[in-house]
Amino acid sequence: MKMVSWMNFKEELKDRVDHIEAILKEYLPKEEGWQKTVIAAMNYSVLAGGKRLRPMLMEETYRLFGGKGREIEPFMAAIEMIHTYSLVHDDLPAMDNDEYRRGRKTTHVVYGEAMAILAGDGLLNYAFETAMKSFAMEGDLEKKARALSVLAQKAGIYGMIGGQTADIEAEDLGDQVTAGHLMFIHAHKTSALIEAAMMTGAILAGASQEETAQIEKAAYEIGIAFQIQDDILDVTSTLEMLGKPIGSDAKNHKTTYVTLKGLEESRKEQQELSLHAIETIRSIGYSNDFLMELVTSLITREK
Ligand code: IPE
Ligand code: IPE
Ligand code: MG
Ligand code: MG
Ligand code: MG
Repeated sequence: MKMVSWMNFKEELKDRVDHIEAILKEYLPKEEGWQKTVIAAMNYSVLAGGKRLRPMLMEETYRLFGGKGREIEPFMAAIEMIHTYSLVHDDLPAMDNDEYRRGRKTTHVVYGEAMAILAGDGLLNYAFETAMKSFAMEGDLEKKARALSVLAQKAGIYGMIGGQTADIEAEDLGDQVTAGHLMFIHAHKTSALIEAAMMTGAILAGASQEETAQIEKAAYEIGIAFQIQDDILDVTSTLEMLGKPIGSDAKNHKTTYVTLKGLEESRKEQQELSLHAIETIRSIGYSNDFLMELVTSLITREK
C-alpha cells in the first residue's frame, strides 16, 4: 500500500516539475538582440534543472485554498527567476565561489563574472516584469497587488538579501555566531522565499489574513528545515548526487546548523520542524494530499 502511494507521489512530482518547466519556458525571454548574451546566461541558469520547489509550493498552496485560475503562473515563473538569480550570485567568486550548480558549470564559469552578475540582475528584474503580466489576466487586481508586494518584500533586504548579507558577514566569526544569529541567517536567506511562494499562493486563492499568517508560519518552518538539510547534505552527500559541490560551507568557514549542533541534533530538529509545519497547515482545515507528501518528502531528501 505504502509502496503504491510513494510511486504515485513520484509520478505526480514528475508531472508537476514538467508543468512548471513548461510555464518557465513560456515566460523566459528570447535570446535575440544586442542583449542576447545576458539572456542566454539567464536561460542557461534557469533551465539547468533544479527541484522547482518554490513554484511547486506556490501552486500547491494556491490549490489548498481552492485556487483554479492561471493568474498564478506568472508568479510561479517569477519566484523561480528570483531564486535562480540568488543562486547565480551566491556562486560568484566574491560570495561562495562554487563551480557547479544543478549538475552543470556555474553561470560565471561559462559566461564570465560580468555576464553572471548581469544575468542575476536581469533575472531579478525580469521576475517582476513577469509577475506583472498576471495583471492582464483574469482575477482580482487587489489580490495580485498584495501578492506582488509580499514577493518584493521577501526577496529584498528584509528577506533573502538580508539573509545573504548576514551569511557573508558571519564567515570567519567561528563560535561568535550564536544559534540566534544563525536562525536570522536561515530565516532570511532561505525561509523568506519559501514564505513568499506559499503566501502568494494563499493570497491569490483568496485566503484570509489569518490563514495567510498561518501559511507564513508553516513556510518559515519548512524553510528552516530545508536549509538545515542543505547544511547536512553539504557534509554528507556527493557532487554527483547534489549537482553542486559538497564542502562549500567548510571551505568558506561558515557556521552552519551542523557545525553548531552536530549532525544528529540537526537531523532531529529538521524533522521536528517539518512535522510541525505539516500540523500547522492541517490545522487551517483544508486538504491537499500532494502538498503534505511534498513537505514530508523533504525530511528525507537527498538532493
Ligand atoms: C538551494 O536551493 C539554495 C538554498 C536555499 C538551500 P534548492 O536546493 O531549492 O536548489 P534547486 O532549485 O533545487 O537547484
Ligand atoms: C544560499 O545558501 C541561499 C541563497 C539565498 C542562495 P547556500 O549558499 O547554502 O546555498 P547552496 O548550498 O550554495 O545552494
Ligand atoms: Mg551561500
Ligand atoms: Mg552557496
Ligand atoms: Mg548550502
